[in-house]
Amino acid sequence: MFSDSFGRDITYLRVSVTDRCNFRCQYCMPEDGVDFEERQDLLTADEIEEVVGIFVDDGVRKVRLTGGEPLLRPDLPEIVDRLTDLEGLEHVAITTNGYLLGRKAEALADAGLDSLNVSLDSLDDEMFEELTRLGDLERVLDGIETARDHGLTDLKLNTVVVGGYNDHELEDLANFAIDRGLILRFIEFMPLGDQQLWDGPGGECVPANEIRSRLSERWTLESDSDTYGAGPARYMRLHGPNTPDEGHPLGIIGAVTECFCNDCNRMRITATGQVRACLADDHSLSVRAPLRTYSDTDERRRAIESVVQRALGQKDRSHDFDLEGSTVTDTTMSQIGG
Ligand code: GTP
Ligand code: 5AD
Ligand code: SF4
Repeated sequence: MFSDSFGRDITYLRVSVTDRCNFRCQYCMPEDGVDFEERQDLLTADEIEEVVGIFVDDGVRKVRLTGGEPLLRPDLPEIVDRLTDLEGLEHVAITTNGYLLGRKAEALADAGLDSLNVSLDSLDDEMFEELTRLGDLERVLDGIETARDHGLTDLKLNTVVVGGYNDHELEDLANFAIDRGLILRFIEFMPLGDQQLWDGPGGECVPANEIRSRLSERWTLESDSDTYGAGPARYMRLHGPNTPDEGHPLGIIGAVTECFCNDCNRMRITATGQVRACLADDHSLSVRAPLRTYSDTDERRRAIESVVQRALGQKDRSHDFDLEGSTVTDTTMSQIGG
């Protein structure tokens, strides 16, 4: 089992399959993009399968494929297909902006994808375009429906709440999710990447307690101990207008004001094979080097395990976000995959 020096077991691995994206969300990537990685530097499907296999043998039970935008990778269904065949891996998920879902949902469903999280930051065309820069709301909404039509019903929504932009839409977004029986999570905006992200005034983090307080003007909130996944969201049930008798679950990811690091079960691999023990810490070590150096399988495995152990040794007890929004990393969210 991979465990860190504070005794936290790593059971959930986030694998970025590309740093490229067809959106340029203001909270995530500068308008001109970043210096994208060369294609030959990205881990191949074979390499991803091998590394994930090692993590699974060492205790990982859930893998989430991220980006950039993972659906930009033409071999994504093949990667999903291979990972779902790994013995011991219980759950393969993706997080996507939804733009290509209409086209790719069927192949992903056929490959055995277990679940997906789709970003949905606004229900207003103009705000959606302003926040995502290149996004198209109608297309994303159609993509969500297509995914569900193909049986991808374990689908949650992600809204990064950005003060001064979409924070007046909390009720509309919650109603949208309730109407469709979907679980929505409101995410506190995290300051990552020291690049110029915002076109105009920088977005502000809206604290989780403020989000709850606004929701409580409309619904009664009951805490819900279910986890609906393996990540950091904390859930509650909304009771009242528009909800069924048992209420409707909604999550909050209070990364800035409600630190959840004590329960962290996660590691990350970037698209180029950098192992990162924490989202909010640029320390990383390469598994691509051993993958491409050793021809003997056992030797490769030992070298990769040793890299992961060393990366885990660098994992701090917690990250250090603050409400002022001072950035904690050089790398943007899009280069890590959230
Ligand atoms: P599930 O619970 O399995 O659905 O996964 P998830 O919610 O972690 O996945 P998703 O990719 O949808 O991430 C939602 C938000 O949580 C994103 O903004 C991530 O950056 C954030 N997040 C996920 N893990 C961590 C973490 O370890 N630390 C911090 N600070 N944020 C995280
Ligand atoms: N803060 C919080 N969440 C973010 N995401 C991207 N950038 C940020 C940020 N700065 C979210 C995306 C996506 C998930 C992978 O991470 O909206 O849903
Ligand atoms: Fe792309 Fe996702 Fe980042 Fe938006 S949040 S720019 S969709 S990687």
